[in-house]
Amino acid sequence: MKNILCIGAGYVGGPTMAVIADRCPDLTVTVVDINAVRIAAWNSDELPIYEPGLDEVVKRCRGRNLFYSTDIPKAIREADLIFVSVNTPTKTFGAGAGKAADLQYLEKTARSIIEHAESDKIVVEKSTLPVRTAQAMSRILHSNTKNLKFQILSNPEFLAEGTAIRDLENPDRVLIGGMETPEGQGAIEALASIYARWVPRERIITTNLWSSELTKLVSNALLAQRVSSVNSISALCEKTEANIDEVTGAAGKDSRIGPKFLKASIGFGGSCFKKDILNLVYLCGHYGLPEVADYWEQVIKMNDFQARRFVGNMLAAMFNTVADKKIAIFGFAFKADTGDTRESPACAVCLQLLEEHARLNIHDPKALGNAKLDLEGVAGDISYLEDPYEAAKGVHAIAVVTEWKSFRELDYQRIYDSMEKPAFLFDGRNILDHKMLFEIGFNVYPIGKRKLTHF
Ligand code: UDX
Ligand code: UDX
Repeated sequence: MKNILCIGAGYVGGPTMAVIADRCPDLTVTVVDINAVRIAAWNSDELPIYEPGLDEVVKRCRGRNLFYSTDIPKAIREADLIFVSVNTPTKTFGAGAGKAADLQYLEKTARSIIEHAESDKIVVEKSTLPVRTAQAMSRILHSNTKNLKFQILSNPEFLAEGTAIRDLENPDRVLIGGMETPEGQGAIEALASIYARWVPRERIITTNLWSSELTKLVSNALLAQRVSSVNSISALCEKTEANIDEVTGAAGKDSRIGPKFLKASIGFGGSCFKKDILNLVYLCGHYGLPEVADYWEQVIKMNDFQARRFVGNMLAAMFNTVADKKIAIFGFAFKADTGDTRESPACAVCLQLLEEHARLNIHDPKALGNAKLDLEGVAGDISYLEDPYEAAKGVHAIAVVTEWKSFRELDYQRIYDSMEKPAFLFDGRNILDHKMLFEIGFNVYPIGKRKLTHF
């Protein structure tokens, strides 16, 4: 095992391969993509994605044993093991539109592998896929007329954006699924031995292919379900004067529940949660389990409700009209420490406010570029501001949508002084010091907590 290839230089493939190259100097790691602009960015000083610690790892390895290329045929010919990390978005057309995964890029990649391969290879599903996709992959790959043999593995990636490098360097677990044959077990061991250079063996879990494929969907569904469960209770807290942080703090002390992933918010975003749950819902329907499908679909419905509820609270507080009022949106990324805005609840919030004819000043430390793309062509008065103080000047309200640490460090007296009065602050992430803001003069509306108003 000498040459590793990854097809798909995105948020998953890019950082994952950088860490493998860093930890395995004896391997040659090549990352290819059909998008030449993206590859050029990976080869430049301005990487295509922002991820803390990524620049350093890439700088250490690039040109040594880490290469970014658009020469897909050559890279396939030379590879012993190929990670497939192309995107698998929700289908927008035909059967299963809006739920099923669109597997066309995966299939094209498999066909490209058989077109260019000249030797047997291990092909690893890194992308998140519907359970039993490996069967289709195997059938396509083995339709080759060169008598080549392929072993298919499933090795889903569990990294979270914003902490990708940390997650990759110190994963809770690495999951590898393969066929229950001697050849399948050999392929599992080949991949496990790569991770074992830096991951303790007991954290490398091996299963059959279908368990591995399904585990990725289930892990994301369980995480998203926790967020939706907490957010549903945040609505009840606002009606009853219970405090969501106190409730989750105390509930999370139960070691069976645990303290993580219980933070109330305006809702989860990101490229995975919604897509993967929809995928799970589709699969359950496909296998004749409508009750199971409905159960999981509710996680998404609750998430949509939470963003709508947030905007509803804004409207109600601001005398039932935001028309022509300037509102500062603090944060557009789907979470802190990333410039990624895919499925960001910020977008839903902005669109609803624009429908109400609000005028928006959007500020985000890393995501303004993507915010502009997301809102391109959307009617309304939208400004994008690098400076949070400029964004807040003259506005009626601030809505905190992403939990950037920098938002906690702002001079809110200065911000308050520059705003229209009464000044409103809606903290969609419960990250600010609400008592201090109230004392400055703000009317403060947290999530799942009593509002602090001067009326
Ligand atoms: C994607 C999926 O969203 C996720 O479900 C899966 O687990 C891994 O792949 P991500 O890396 O965030 O995650 O996607 P994206 O940033 O869109 O990267 C995919 C890359 O594949 C893109 O750069 C795209 O150009 C490339 N690609 C796509 C190919 O190289 N070949 C193709 O045929 C299709
Ligand atoms: C997720 C999974 O965590 C990761 O394992 C998988 O590989 C990809 O999907 P990611 O989407 O990058 O990762 O971020 P994550 O940290 O899971 O956050 C997802 C969303 O949930 C964010 O919008 C975040 O703000 C929100 N969230 C998270 C909450 O609202 N409350 C929480 O307590 C935790």
